[in-house]
Amino acid sequence: MIGVALILVIFGALAFIPSDNSTTTVDFSVDDSLVERGKYLALAGNCASCHTARDGAFMAGGLAFETPFGTIYSTNITPDQETGIGKWTGAEFLNSMRQGVRPDGEHLYPVFPYTAFTKIVDEDMVALFAYLNSIPAVRRAADENEVSFPFSQRSLMSVWKAMFFDAGAYETDESRSVEWNRGAYIVEALAHCSACHSPRNLLGAEKPNMAMTGGVYMDEVPTGAVRPWSAPNLTAAPNGLGLWPAEEVAAYLKTGINSYVETFGPMNEVIINSTRHLTYVDVDAMSVYLKSLPSNGSGTRPKASDSVLGMGRTLYNLHCGTCHLPTGLGDEESAPQLAGGSLIVQSSNPASLINVILDGPELPDPPLPTKRYKPMEDFRYQLDDSEIAALASYLRASWGNTGGEVTAKQVAEQR
Ligand code: HEC
Ligand code: HEC
Ligand code: HEC
Repeated sequence: MIGVALILVIFGALAFIPSDNSTTTVDFSVDDSLVERGKYLALAGNCASCHTARDGAFMAGGLAFETPFGTIYSTNITPDQETGIGKWTGAEFLNSMRQGVRPDGEHLYPVFPYTAFTKIVDEDMVALFAYLNSIPAVRRAADENEVSFPFSQRSLMSVWKAMFFDAGAYETDESRSVEWNRGAYIVEALAHCSACHSPRNLLGAEKPNMAMTGGVYMDEVPTGAVRPWSAPNLTAAPNGLGLWPAEEVAAYLKTGINSYVETFGPMNEVIINSTRHLTYVDVDAMSVYLKSLPSNGSGTRPKASDSVLGMGRTLYNLHCGTCHLPTGLGDEESAPQLAGGSLIVQSSNPASLINVILDGPELPDPPLPTKRYKPMEDFRYQLDDSEIAALASYLRASWGNTGGEVTAKQVAEQR
């Protein structure tokens, strides 16, 4: 990391100057329908999940984000004059969302997903700003970030941006349908699925040629500890969204439940605070777009040895088979199917699968109204690392699944 830091310091001399002057020409006058539209867009962008701390005031900031470079807190985006965005002009708001630059000229960290929000079109920026100005103002001062040097120097973000960031609104692809474009716009510009579902390089930038092939997101497990969660491949890969037809993708995003799975873990917030509030038309459009992503990055590791798989099968029949059934097909009353269907089971990175077995699936609280099953318990105290590794390897090698071996070391890292 030191080497990387040095390169950044050297590059720091070449300051990056935002070149988009269009910001001043946008009309920011307000009416009620604009506020309504902004509210919907804020749901699609899931602003509240990140800008509302646990037990904190709505949109008043203070939620901590653990990044490889330190802890960064979300900010107060209520219209408070002193501590929020109450004094901001529309152009300043546009500049923060499109360019990632604060009114004082400092650069924002991309944990605020402006790498996606930059694609929001001008009229939607206007609606978002109108909506934010309509919510109750809350006085709550910003938290002190704990970011290590040199990343604590916001000016260095100019280098990062020069290397990895292209500002600019979404442009319609004329060769595609209206529905596809609407879906692409919501997925890429507002819902920022790629912020979690794309792998990142050492400097925390999404790798463009591997977009949506799976990423890692740090979040709590049910014990309260923060652990890596793997976000699976959303391209048509055979261990990714290739497993689900478009209707199943739409059902999952609209209700948190489809024929295969129930939401748990970090997706709870995405679905409960965001995608389930979107119209059927928009959710269908999202699934049309997602299902159009060509298969990429499905390279899987070899499966475990026969003796490990044998041990896994015994453990499975003993601890899991009563609910998930020995066929892995699950049952409407007891548990979802693990044969095909679950992207988590087969994801190249098994972190989320391991979390589920160690701590049980972290379910929405309160439970979804459509919830089908009694919750699954944790196995943290019943099984050791090599047993969980054998079990996970077995799930990933059985019933046509193609996930590859999981090692005891990987389980130890998640425990
Ligand atoms: C993944 C979490 C996340 C989401 C989603 C998110 N934000 Fe943020 N936002 C942040 C963080 C963290 C910061 C602070 C970044 C920094 O300090 O550099 C921030 C900063 C901002 C700022 C700059 C505020 C300031 O005081 O400088 C604005 C404006 C903003 N967000 C608006 C929004 C809007 C509007 C949405 C929804 C469309 C949204 N954010 C969604 C995490 C998020
Ligand atoms: C905050 C990070 C984050 C965001 C944003 C996010 N995801 Fe996820 N997603 C995850 C993680 C982590 C998992 C695996 C654990 C889980 O299901 O919570 C996952 C799992 C999934 C799964 C597989 C579910 C299963 O049980 O097999 C699908 C499908 C999915 N996400 C789609 C999406 C779509 C579409 C979007 C954008 C609307 C999105 N995600 C946005 C982190 C995220
Ligand atoms: C008491 C019944 C029961 C037992 C025993 C059980 N599970 Fe589950 N499992 C569930 C239910 C129900 C869910 C769906 C989430 C929920 O409602 O808790 C689930 C979800 C899962 C998932 C997530 C699938 C997805 O992507 O949606 C995995 C993986 C899993 N179980 C693996 C296991 C393994 C491995 C064992 C044995 C160590 C096991 N389960 C034992 C009931 C059970």
